[in-house]
Amino acid sequence: MENDIISYSSVSSQKKGIVTSKKIPDDLIKDITSLRPTSFKEYIGQNDTVETLKIAIQAAKMREEPLDHILLHGPPGLGKTTVSHIIANEMGKDLTVTSGPTLEKGGDLIGILTNLGEGDMLFIDEIHRIPKIVEEFLYPAMEDFAVDFVFDKGIHARSHRYRLKQFVLIGATTRVGLLSSPLRDRFGIFRTLDFYTVEQLVIIVKRSALILDTPISNDGALELAERSRGTPRVTNRLLKRVRDYSQVKSHGKVTKESVRAALELEGIDKLGLTSLDRNYLRTIIEFYNGGPVGIEAIAATLQEETDTLVDVVEPFLLKMGLVQRTSSGRKTSTMAYQHMKSKS
Ligand code: ADE
Repeated sequence: MENDIISYSSVSSQKKGIVTSKKIPDDLIKDITSLRPTSFKEYIGQNDTVETLKIAIQAAKMREEPLDHILLHGPPGLGKTTVSHIIANEMGKDLTVTSGPTLEKGGDLIGILTNLGEGDMLFIDEIHRIPKIVEEFLYPAMEDFAVDFVFDKGIHARSHRYRLKQFVLIGATTRVGLLSSPLRDRFGIFRTLDFYTVEQLVIIVKRSALILDTPISNDGALELAERSRGTPRVTNRLLKRVRDYSQVKSHGKVTKESVRAALELEGIDKLGLTSLDRNYLRTIIEFYNGGPVGIEAIAATLQEETDTLVDVVEPFLLKMGLVQRTSSGRKTSTMAYQHMKSKS
């Protein structure tokens, strides 16, 4: 921790042009200059969710109680992890991060739970992928702040209840429908994160460009925001590619032209679609006459995981109205045909 603080000040001095004798490892610099906001003051978008959380945090602080358990739902890259870090920061508590698939046995979860302090937060990403056997330990942990150990088997079986500190569980999921209702019902706060508007992404691009010390024109920021699939993680990833391109090819400043040229190289079109998005649309249009077609058939044709298509590809295409999900399968819209025909 102390090292982090020392290194942080060294990096700011270097940025200001002050020479320090300390060499900072590259991976640490990357961490320090993270583009993620660390407080709600810096956070852009998700206004209703942020308001709900701010009120819950303030009320919990006034009552000197831990927060209710929180379930965050939404497509990848919209800020579920970022928001969880901010909640822990604002409550002044530690956050332990894990994910559903890594918790293989009850013991994995118990080990983590017994190490949490009063009011500390446990973030479980992809909570819908938690094994059933582990999920059953979560029920008494969430409700009674206790875990039940069972010793021996059969007629010799004895149970011992171990008391936990009042922790806060933050679950994140891309598929809330896959959560069992006993688990879902144990969360006091449930919020879905939405795709960001272009206006919000413009602000995020400019904030990130400032942190990265990269000059960017207004139309450059707009062009990048429009091609970011409504997703800040995409915005920040693309900004780094565009920054490289602009540095090498156009004297460092990010402009509309450099964004277009750099993103063309990345295979990102004017709607922000990737080659996987376009292959998905092309498959429905060309192989299945525009649908309706089942997701399994699309996945088999594309040789992709169904989960990737459902979690990563479809939410944005549905939001853009390029695809519809009907009871008989997926269908492409007229707009999808027009987009695939146009030279983007
Ligand atoms: N960087 C990534 N997501 C962000 C957000 N919601 N607000 C500000 N900066 C961000």
